[in-house]
Amino acid sequence: MILLDGKATSNSIKEEIAAEVEKLKQQGKKVPHLAAVLVGEDGASQTYVNSKVKSCERVGFDSTLIKLPASTSEEELLKTIDDLNNNDNIDGYIVQLPLPDHIDENKVTLAVAPGKDVDGFHPENVGRMSLGLPTFLPATPNGIMEMLGRYNIETSGKNCVVIGRSNIVGTPMSILMSRNTNPGNATVTLVHSRTKNLAEITRRADIIIVALGKPKFLTADMVGEGTVVVDVGIHRIEDSTKKSGFRLVGDVDYENVAPKCSAISPVPGGVGPMTIASLLQNTLKAISLQH
Ligand code: GUN
Repeated sequence: MILLDGKATSNSIKEEIAAEVEKLKQQGKKVPHLAAVLVGEDGASQTYVNSKVKSCERVGFDSTLIKLPASTSEEELLKTIDDLNNNDNIDGYIVQLPLPDHIDENKVTLAVAPGKDVDGFHPENVGRMSLGLPTFLPATPNGIMEMLGRYNIETSGKNCVVIGRSNIVGTPMSILMSRNTNPGNATVTLVHSRTKNLAEITRRADIIIVALGKPKFLTADMVGEGTVVVDVGIHRIEDSTKKSGFRLVGDVDYENVAPKCSAISPVPGGVGPMTIASLLQNTLKAISLQH
């Protein structure tokens, strides 16, 4: 069984990016500058955003963290976005999701300048991805493609089942895996809450990508022998034996599923670090668009 080690893979990518940044510096060019906007005090979002900012520093990027209170109005947030769009010093930025209920996420996504949209969430960039045109690919699906590629996982002609149809992961993942690329060229089935006989479908899969946000959803009886499993979920489960009081689990019942797999990504240390590496790759790409 191959462990799809996202932490080690993302460290290699970060080293490659750091070398690129060093080159830019030597040429007297501007280094990439990523900004992250965090609205509210959600614990998990704070952890993710801090991790993104720390990774920027590690590869030599400039970074700016804009923390706004949960009470921020939609209008105020849109003003912050407008400022970032017009700030030549910022090459790319993200607005961490989810946003408080009183803010319309669609409005926010539409307000981000497509050339600075390193999350790849703007409809223009989603459209470009669907058409196979150059664009910012959404960080989590692209991180998964990068991981599959670097581990030489064969995807061409394989049955790939994507569980979950979110805008951020499931839907773009199904598009990327079905494109005529390597990795890609898979026969993709996108399953969701209305799917009938889900376990029958997953049992026939060569590759399963689980992104529905339910702890330990994918159990051993749903997986055939030799399957490649990629776990996108991340949940805090109470655990009194841990100093923090919790431990992290994914959407996969790892302990029982892993023995049946030819390859599997762990949680933590799988897709999470790859998402960050992918965001850094997009930010490096943004600099050529901005300058
Ligand atoms: N929330 C969960 N995943 C993501 C992501 O990739 N980008 C942003 N902006 N928010 C998220």
